[in-house]
Amino acid sequence: MADKSTLVLFGARGNLSRIKLIPGLFRLDEAGKLSDEIKIVSVGRQNISQNEWENEIKDMLEKKFNGKYNLKVFDRFIKKNIYHATLPDDPNAFKNFAKLINEDKRFPKNYAFFLSVRPSDFSKIVDQLAEVNLLKEDKYWRRVLIEKPFGTNLKSAIELQGSISKHLNEKQIYRIDHYLGKSALQNILWTRFTNSILEPIWNNKYIDHIQITNHETLGVGERTQFYDATGALRDMTQSHLLQMLALTTMEKPKTFSPDDIRVEKIKLLKSIKSIPINEINKYAFRAQYKSGEIEKEGHVMGYLEELENNKSVVETYAAIRLHIDNPRWKNIPIYLRTAKRLDQSGTFISVKFKNKQNDKKLNSNNWFVFNIQPKESTYFEIQTKIPGLNDSDLRTTKLEGMNRLDFDEKIDAYETLMLDLLEGNQSRFLHIDEVKAAWSLIDPIIKYWSENKEKVHQYEAGTDDPKESKIIFENKDQFWRKGS
Ligand code: BG6
Repeated sequence: MADKSTLVLFGARGNLSRIKLIPGLFRLDEAGKLSDEIKIVSVGRQNISQNEWENEIKDMLEKKFNGKYNLKVFDRFIKKNIYHATLPDDPNAFKNFAKLINEDKRFPKNYAFFLSVRPSDFSKIVDQLAEVNLLKEDKYWRRVLIEKPFGTNLKSAIELQGSISKHLNEKQIYRIDHYLGKSALQNILWTRFTNSILEPIWNNKYIDHIQITNHETLGVGERTQFYDATGALRDMTQSHLLQMLALTTMEKPKTFSPDDIRVEKIKLLKSIKSIPINEINKYAFRAQYKSGEIEKEGHVMGYLEELENNKSVVETYAAIRLHIDNPRWKNIPIYLRTAKRLDQSGTFISVKFKNKQNDKKLNSNNWFVFNIQPKESTYFEIQTKIPGLNDSDLRTTKLEGMNRLDFDEKIDAYETLMLDLLEGNQSRFLHIDEVKAAWSLIDPIIKYWSENKEKVHQYEAGTDDPKESKIIFENKDQFWRKGS
């Protein structure tokens, strides 16, 4: 159960809040995780009444749960929710807000501020909160959760950090990467370190390479302007994909405490070699989707048409090769790829084992896969003999364990992370050193791509990885693995 506290949502009427945060808080309440004393204050720049806000919440829940939600919990939940307007032209807006939560007895004095706002507003809001003395911890805790992206490159991340750390220490800052709230990601460490059969083979002696994949059939949707300023590499690789890589390859933490896990993740991220600037085209590949057919959606437009700008070179497909500079992973390529509008959606980590046979026919062709979504499973692929008279006819057999069973609780990543925020658990949030290490790796590629405006490869929406992406493979025998 979370501490008695006041959760303040900035950007409560935005998309994320409507789809994930408010419905997520409702589900936490339903699960008995929010005590009656918890209050949720939604701060918005529009002057709407409490009544209108309650109707909006109702509407969000109706949409999210298709009209099926517990009405008793709804009454309880609504009582926890308060709308407060901080009008942009009111110079006393934050003062009045501070007065409200400090003096009104309804509000517990532990405060968590969730900033689901434009990245350019992060430090402004933190400054304003500090000005009215809402961030200083004495008897009560104060926490600030910052949505992604934390900066748009190393320089801006350092600037943002410099600005917010004037008012907050590291223990108060919760930098979100919602992938860390997915239970399938949490499973990676447990699977690796609680099964003694994995550790002896989890190294360059046995592993040929690793692929970390995120594919979406979705396009950029209504976020064209945001996306065009961001691109796939910043949007997915810098955050979610590098986090999956860290969990897959980090050393065993001293204990499974939040701090020890973060220490190992940081060490790993810092030990990834920078991509050689003069060889970026061998290590990184980008492409854009053009129009095509997507299952269930039919004909869809290409990225440039959606953007209404045919000059953009921003990537909707990004694949890169990385190497980790430590004894366990020496000389092992790690491929990260992410794409919008491919033929399949799925996130998975595939580990390919080395072929130990000289005879090609007897190649072992073993894979170990963590399926993250939509299916959550773990499996080995091994070669087995097909029953019959032919002695050496082999086929691939899958030894699969479902990590999520039908009766298991379904928890959205944001629910986990909001509870962590209220309970003071930072293990599933990013330390500033992780953010910096990730930008240091990605920055040179982004810079190179933005300076080299040569024609970007195009792939038809609804098709497979562009074949040109194979340029980043180190070895001719390597190929992109499809999801399953
Ligand atoms: C977000 C990206 O961080 O993650 C989106 O900004 C992407 O572009 C999304 O679609 C994917 O998240 P999930 O949880 O649906 O895999």
